[in-house]
Amino acid sequence: MAGATGLPLFTALHSYEPRAGHGLPHDPFNAIVGPRPIGWVSTRSAEGVLNLAPYSFFNAFNYTPPLIGFSSTSEKDSLRNARATGEFVWNLVTRPLAEAMNTTCMAVPPEVDEFQLAGLTPVASQCVAVPRVGESPVAFECKVTQIIALQGADGSPAGAWLTMGEVVAVHIARELLVDGLYDTANAQHILRGGGPADYFSIGPEQLFKMHRPR
Ligand SMILES: Cc1cc2nc3c(=O)[nH]c(=O)nc-3n(C[C@H](O)[C@H](O)[C@H](O)COP(=O)(O)O)c2cc1C
Repeated sequence: MAGATGLPLFTALHSYEPRAGHGLPHDPFNAIVGPRPIGWVSTRSAEGVLNLAPYSFFNAFNYTPPLIGFSSTSEKDSLRNARATGEFVWNLVTRPLAEAMNTTCMAVPPEVDEFQLAGLTPVASQCVAVPRVGESPVAFECKVTQIIALQGADGSPAGAWLTMGEVVAVHIARELLVDGLYDTANAQHILRGGGPADYFSIGPEQLFKMHRPR
């Protein structure tokens, strides 16, 4: 059956209410809201230990001031450190860094420095005391603006926290600026899909252009 656009309408649906379960072998939520950019977040603990971890519940939320945020689905070191120091750095994950990024998601005690664990180089930042990943071609230095305790529709705590930060300094490898424009298509970004292991890489083949209607 065609809809108003002439395109077919989907009528055979698997529908569910998440609180009652999805009824599928794997929760499709992550695979649907995806692929997602990865917030590769560096922080420093109050004691000075460096920390680095990936967060795919991550995105940008505003231009001026530039705001980004990541959600920790429980009390994790990145959240604790950002809360304690008011600072974090976002590092871009590219295809050559995928395996190192994956190493940094290991559940290790807070005294373990994931830069060392993954063999990455901490490079001093300009405006915050948290280093960036030297091997990453783009980094945003951030100051925490809000830490929001997330909740469900009934007001009950989700046990997750959204850490928001203002981007106070930006570093971009010059080779990714072509005539002054950031070359997303050739920067080798990777994105997180669903399931235990799905990632996507993007390149010029995936680029298409569409301007807003006037
Ligand atoms: C690609 C990727 C994305 C992830 N996204 C999230 C996320 O959005 N939220 C979260 O709480 N954990 C996420 N994790 C798991 C954390 O990285 C993991 O729990 C890590 O140990 C947290 O480190 P921390 O305690 O040093 O902050 C993700 C892991 C990977 C590999």
